[in-house]
Amino acid sequence: MSPDYFKPPALATHFNGEHFVGSLTCKECHADIYETHLETAHFNTSALASADNIIGSFENGASILSLDELEVKMIEEGDAYYQQVVDKKNNQTLPAQKIGVVIGSGVKGQSYLTWEDERLFQLQASYYPPTDSWINSPGYPNQFIKRPVRDGCLKCHVTFATNRDFSGQGNQYDSAKMVYGVDCEKCHRPAGKHVVFHRENPDVETARFMLQLDTLSRQLRLDACAQCHSGPRDRILQGNSFSYLSGEPLDAYSRNFHKGLSNQELDVHGNQYGLLTGSKCFIQSTEMDCGTCHDPHKNQRNDIQYFNQKCMSCHQANTAICTEDESVLHANGSNCISCHMPTIPSKIMSLQLTEDRAETAVYVRTHLIGIYEAEDKTIIETIDSSAVREIKEFIGK
Ligand code: HEC
Ligand code: HEC
Ligand code: HEC
Ligand code: HEC
Ligand code: HEC
Ligand code: HEC
Ligand code: HEC
Repeated sequence: MSPDYFKPPALATHFNGEHFVGSLTCKECHADIYETHLETAHFNTSALASADNIIGSFENGASILSLDELEVKMIEEGDAYYQQVVDKKNNQTLPAQKIGVVIGSGVKGQSYLTWEDERLFQLQASYYPPTDSWINSPGYPNQFIKRPVRDGCLKCHVTFATNRDFSGQGNQYDSAKMVYGVDCEKCHRPAGKHVVFHRENPDVETARFMLQLDTLSRQLRLDACAQCHSGPRDRILQGNSFSYLSGEPLDAYSRNFHKGLSNQELDVHGNQYGLLTGSKCFIQSTEMDCGTCHDPHKNQRNDIQYFNQKCMSCHQANTAICTEDESVLHANGSNCISCHMPTIPSKIMSLQLTEDRAETAVYVRTHLIGIYEAEDKTIIETIDSSAVREIKEFIGK
């Protein structure tokens, strides 16, 4: 047995001194969870770039993004991938930039980052699955820019990053100490001690040095997900973006600014927490949290039957089952969420798909469960909760 067995190498060390050891270490004792976790959007949301995870095409013909002032060429050389910008106005070809890191599992899109020494920048071209094409990265102007990637961008897409500037304002990182993906230890805290203990004590069957998420209060359970699913939370109150660990009260670490974002700032994709907590389902039940409908260890995208059962687990027991006409329900495959949690164009995330600068909104499934008008999917009922007001203010409605 290698000496590493009793002392697994640390991938990174949290500010509290605890070591991250990575999901591969969990495999020997939690094989089932390990296997299904590999298929999740969480696990695949960031990685070192490779032929396996870059979705955009490098084939001839499909490998150019053309904007009115510039062109981005995708170049493949051996097992390395590059983006190269040609400034059309000045007819100037800029140095090729190597794709170092991939962000996004590819459900809605994928962005690419490049290292310049230890500094991390986002690249000009992103990939957009619905059109199977390269697009200008969300929020990018039509000219060439190098957008620095700071903690405020990485915090939701990696498990841990070690910024050279603790405040998180700089974009210089220790690239050897980056834990990619939303891995086990993002939700379960760094697990070095847990692994060492159980390897040394194979007969102990109850978990040691491990937070028990299911015994936490509802708010603390929600907080473990809300750290990434409740808006940008740019107002840091304590430590930096990576200081918070599951089990602690999130509001003590960060909050949202209640303001719209300028184009230069990073794009916000979702606030499932704010929307859900504004829904009657949530307000009028005592136990509902994200885990009521989601198994964090599995990829459950498009499993309509599964999600319907989740709705029915509460609504069958009540008298208030759906009051819509039977025939309409059947026509819709009785898919509860198609009517009550529709996908709605995001007010804050839009993309430029063509040279003429026209913008297309990205559709996100709302977590404000309610009764919507069929036509334009606007909500009929105005649910008056502070959480929803906050979001409306935030998106400037
Ligand atoms: C050498 C074996 C071993 C390794 C390696 C291991 N665990 Fe465990 N783990 C256990 C045992 C034993 C339990 C208690 C029985 C159970 O719940 O499966 C446990 C329980 C847990 C629990 C449940 C805690 C609770 O009671 O709610 C979590 C979460 C957990 N481990 C996470 C991890 C993570 C994350 C890793 C990898 C970084 C990991 N474990 C690696 C042995 C191990
Ligand atoms: C570190 C930040 C982070 C944490 C913590 C986190 N998520 Fe996520 N979650 C993400 C990101 C980023 C994505 C988008 C991943 C992608 O597609 O690239 C995502 C995607 C999802 C999805 C969509 C999955 C799919 O198949 O498209 C669900 C559902 C989800 N998260 C639920 C949860 C729940 C429940 C929790 C808490 C138990 C949680 N998340 C905790 C960052 C996080
Ligand atoms: C506050 C957390 C948060 C921050 C900060 C954040 N993201 Fe995301 N990102 C998410 C979540 C959550 C999703 C998926 C669900 C959704 O759209 O609501 C997502 C989705 C994505 C996707 C699409 C992934 C897919 O497979 O669908 C890309 C690409 C992406 N983000 C890139 C970035 C980049 C680049 C930055 C930094 C400039 C960034 N994100 C900052 C939380 C965040
Ligand atoms: C997105 C957050 C998230 C990620 C990532 C995640 N877990 Fe969990 N895990 C949870 C939550 C939440 C619970 C508690 C579920 C409950 O309430 O029963 C849990 C429960 C567990 C349990 C105890 C209950 C059970 O199902 O056996 C173990 C063991 C566990 N996780 C191990 C892992 C391992 C190993 C990984 C990585 C391979 C992992 N988890 C990744 C959120 C996560
Ligand atoms: C944890 C239990 C629970 C779950 C799970 C749940 N709900 Fe509810 N829901 C409630 C309660 C409680 C109410 C408020 C009382 C009522 O109308 O029955 C409610 C209300 C509603 C309403 C009326 C909303 C309004 O604004 O008048 C709709 C529609 C609804 N739920 C749909 C759903 C759908 C669709 C799902 C699955 C995606 C779901 N619910 C899952 C508990 C739940
Ligand atoms: C009442 C059930 C229910 C609850 C509770 C719930 N979700 Fe969801 N969520 C869903 C359904 C249904 C989908 C759509 C899944 C699909 O597209 O296959 C979804 C999708 C998502 C997505 C992907 C959004 C997109 O547009 O791609 C994210 C992210 C997510 N949930 C996060 C969360 C978080 C975080 C929480 C807790 C704050 C939560 N959910 C609570 C039912 C729920
Ligand atoms: C074709 C769209 C559609 C589908 C599919 C659908 N609903 Fe509805 N639902 C509606 C509409 C519209 C109403 C409001 C009808 C009215 O005016 O009373 C409603 C009302 C409700 C209510 C509120 C009842 C009340 O007393 O106020 C609940 C709860 C509900 N639906 C749950 C569900 C569940 C659970 C499913 C999946 C099994 C489902 N719905 C599927 C359109 C739909």
